[in-house]
Amino acid sequence: MCGIVGVLGSGSIAGSIVDALKRLEYRGYDSAGVATLENGKLERRRAEGKLKNLEAKLAAAPLLGSIGIGHTRWATHGKPTETNAHPHASRGLAVVHNGIIENFKALREELAAKGYAFATQTDSEIAAFVVEDELAKGKSPAEAVHAGLKRLRGAFALVYLFEGENNLLIGARQGAPLAVGYGDGEMYLGSDALALAPFTDRVAYLEEGDWVVVRREGADIRDASGKPVQRRIQRSPAGSLLAEKGNYRHFMAKEIHEQPEVVGHTLAHYVDMAAMRLKPFAWPVDPKTLGRISIVGCGTAYFAGLVGKYWIERFARLPVEIDVASECRYREAPVERNGLTIVISQSGETADTLASLRYVKDNGSKTVGVVNVPTSSIARLTDAAAPTLAGPEIGVASTKAFTCQLAAMACLAISLGRARGAIDEAREAALLAELVLTPGLLAEALKLEPAAETVAHAIARARDVLYLGRGTAYPLALEGALKLKELSYIHAEGYPAGELKHGPIALIDEAMPVIVIAPRDAVFEKTVSNMQEVAARGGRLVLIGEKHAAEEAAVAIEHVLAMPDMGANFAPIVYAAPIQMLAYHTAVIMGKDADQPRNLAKSVTVE
Ligand code: M6R
Repeated sequence: MCGIVGVLGSGSIAGSIVDALKRLEYRGYDSAGVATLENGKLERRRAEGKLKNLEAKLAAAPLLGSIGIGHTRWATHGKPTETNAHPHASRGLAVVHNGIIENFKALREELAAKGYAFATQTDSEIAAFVVEDELAKGKSPAEAVHAGLKRLRGAFALVYLFEGENNLLIGARQGAPLAVGYGDGEMYLGSDALALAPFTDRVAYLEEGDWVVVRREGADIRDASGKPVQRRIQRSPAGSLLAEKGNYRHFMAKEIHEQPEVVGHTLAHYVDMAAMRLKPFAWPVDPKTLGRISIVGCGTAYFAGLVGKYWIERFARLPVEIDVASECRYREAPVERNGLTIVISQSGETADTLASLRYVKDNGSKTVGVVNVPTSSIARLTDAAAPTLAGPEIGVASTKAFTCQLAAMACLAISLGRARGAIDEAREAALLAELVLTPGLLAEALKLEPAAETVAHAIARARDVLYLGRGTAYPLALEGALKLKELSYIHAEGYPAGELKHGPIALIDEAMPVIVIAPRDAVFEKTVSNMQEVAARGGRLVLIGEKHAAEEAAVAIEHVLAMPDMGANFAPIVYAAPIQMLAYHTAVIMGKDADQPRNLAKSVTVE
């Protein structure tokens, strides 16, 4: 994940920026750079590889400015070369960027037609050019950034440095974190408080859509509409920085809101964004030889596997068998020699999953590990690694690890489809174009938080809750019920909506909320029929679906969580956000500990 640092200091600050960037090395990177202003003119030093390469360049040609920006780049669009390293510059400004700008191709074509010449293969460079384009209309830097931000789509954080402006940095947060550091006559911006720790422990966190004009005298924070807003300045004691909650009351809330960023980074691990092709994946067995595939996991990881089953069967036309790990390890299932098992685990240490991995390996299966902790036992034991880049997940309830598991499974399913000839290059590109929109859509979906909190007040009064979904929304219904159970201790069940008539419809009454997860997919109309059946029996419906779809459904729905319009293929990645927020707010309203629910452990390393 990219790291960002900005400093309005005194004396030469390039060395301090590099020191701060070192604290962001844990995020992973493959090139780095710094820009400062010298006598009002922009000067940059950038280098491939580790920060020591950048330090060597700075030693050979020092930067003397007292205002500057720095960046560690984790390549998404374009190779990790010096040319593609940040800061990117256009006439009169430089910018550092973390995240993905989805509409960069369209903007590039628009600005190229106006005569702008691009020097890199990155999506980030467009963030410099849109602001230059606005400055050319006679706007001030702040007006130009505000107007430029409205032209960018995706999930990102940005910091701008302007030529001739020795007392000005402008930052923005839209789906990726950015913190403002308050010093004594100095000010800072950084990806997190850890980066700012060498300078200050007084930090304010920007909220979604915020942008900030920073001068040595202080920070003027605005919301997306341009209205001035206050963000609390908090102290970040050095010892707690690696596991800080920022503006959030719980780690779980923070982790829910990190999803646009970490899903983006997970996708960037698998997808060559510029070419809209999958990067090669080293399958431990030739996918063409497979007659079926197995998936194993526990809890939320198992549900991610269940969504993966739908995707692999759809895109690769390959039958998938999926097992809860505690069943897999003892039921003596026949294992196909030289077959393939995908093992899914956040921690990589779950006892049942680890035992299942050993069982299938001992019986001749090749294995792929979809794992979040790269040093874990499961990551080390599997034949091929399919990492999720969720970062440390502290909340016991899995949130960002789940959506990153989904992102990885989507890429694996498309990869299997291509390798087996079930989908062609054009279909691969179309699917990936849809998939890479999910981080931005997640950022949109997270704006439903106030609405989710309202619905949570109704759920908190219930004794039982039913979740319904069809297709890939069925595993989400299971995940929604698990989230609610583990956090609020309310009894909840997830069911395939089509099964309603086969039993659970007997439960419907005025007391039980029925949460229907209904993206606009091929089975949407069928799900609407199920909603009608619930409504006809006085059931209390909560719909998670697109606004227009809800209107067309013409059913008496008590609450609608109106999701952004989107393609249906990868809806589970985006629809995970409202079910997580519903469970989280229900727990908080009921006074439960959202980070550490009773009786649960984050990593279940015993049977
Ligand atoms: O670390 P793992 O992904 O292997 O953990 C699996 C389950 O224990 C885990 O997903 C559990 O169900 C979570 N508490 C769900 O939020």
